[in-house]
Amino acid sequence: MISHFTVSDSHSALNTSTSLARQTVVALLYNDIPSSPSAEDRTPEDAPVDLTAEALGFTPYFDLEDIPAEQEYANIEQALVDAGYKVAAYNVKDRFERLFKFLARRKIDVVFNLVEFFHGRPEQEMHVASFYELLEMPYTGAPPITLALCQDKPLAKAILRSRDLPTPRSITIRKMDDFTSRHNLHYPLIVKPACEDGSGGIENASIVRSLKDLKARTEFVLEDFKMDALIEEYIEGRELNVAVLGNGAVRRALPISEITFEGMPEHLYKIVSYQAKWDPLHEAYHKTIPSCPADLPAATTKRAQELAMKATEALGTRDYARVDMRMNKDGELFILEVNPNPNLSEGTGIARSAEAAGLEFKDLLGTIVESAMMRSKRNLSDSN
Ligand SMILES: Nc1ncnc2c1ncn2[C@@H]1O[C@H](COP(=O)(O)OP(=O)(O)O)[C@@H](O)[C@H]1O
Ligand SMILES: [Mg+2]
Repeated sequence: MISHFTVSDSHSALNTSTSLARQTVVALLYNDIPSSPSAEDRTPEDAPVDLTAEALGFTPYFDLEDIPAEQEYANIEQALVDAGYKVAAYNVKDRFERLFKFLARRKIDVVFNLVEFFHGRPEQEMHVASFYELLEMPYTGAPPITLALCQDKPLAKAILRSRDLPTPRSITIRKMDDFTSRHNLHYPLIVKPACEDGSGGIENASIVRSLKDLKARTEFVLEDFKMDALIEEYIEGRELNVAVLGNGAVRRALPISEITFEGMPEHLYKIVSYQAKWDPLHEAYHKTIPSCPADLPAATTKRAQELAMKATEALGTRDYARVDMRMNKDGELFILEVNPNPNLSEGTGIARSAEAAGLEFKDLLGTIVESAMMRSKRNLSDSN
């Protein structure tokens, strides 16, 4: 998925790669099924609206046009070419035979894995990684077990807690019969679908301040999302994204990117809601603005980076990851979630953090590729 944390400032096309990198063939695999209705199918609701600031009721900060996913993949492909790789970009179009044939036919050194779902289901992401594993095909990013664990927020939180890593207090409700008012959590609370991502099911109404609203929202999540409801203490405060690059001894946290909520209207909570992430015509989209490096006391930066390193190690992410955190008014940090294989579009949190660390976009992608290649070389020598 491509979110709006994408800006159009283009990267430099300098080619500073070595001849070794030049020979590496990278298969850039993604799954993109365009979903926008064709012109004839448009309903009156889809008709163009008046896009002036006056009509919108706010001044847009980002472009109002969505950048097509194809364009984002093309940008990543170009950056990999600029980094010196031979790139074979391929849209698997939700068809396993296509993926299978492509990998069987081509001489590929490493897969750059951007497949985030299959058959419209994010929980299939892990199976795609399993397929590379079975083929013994080197690939970038997290292994299946990490993708599975991080998809399940309550499970991931349980692992974080087992390592004494701070995450908001929570309970999980599996069916309404289990719902209880005796939960010991402090309001306000936020109710989230337990296994969604991309802010699915997270909107203003997710934050509740009474038992009545908590019950109604929990019921809504169970019924509409057909999955467990995670009820968490709501952490009022700042939102930080900490990117982690590399593995083992070369694993490192990058400068912190913050999502600022300046100018968010009073009636909206300061969260990265579904609307804030995906709806360019919603005011929240234009009031969730990344800023990097975040202006934080040095000790807080250090602590957030340490937590991110430990959290990604605990969940077993590889090559690159992003840890979402909130910081309350006392400066206490809470891990909301660990994102293995986070969105890599230019202008996203991780790309900004890399830039603040002196890595251009193409260098960031190159680092990820080399990190995956290194692992496969090590595995080969281990088995010798
Ligand atoms: N406990 C919480 N306290 C405050 N804000 C939260 C909390 N949980 C989620 N949010 C808000 O909702 C957004 C999405 O939640 P997150 O758990 O990161 O799920 P997703 O996988 O959809 O990104 C966060 O970026 C944050 O703004
Ligand atoms: Mg998140």
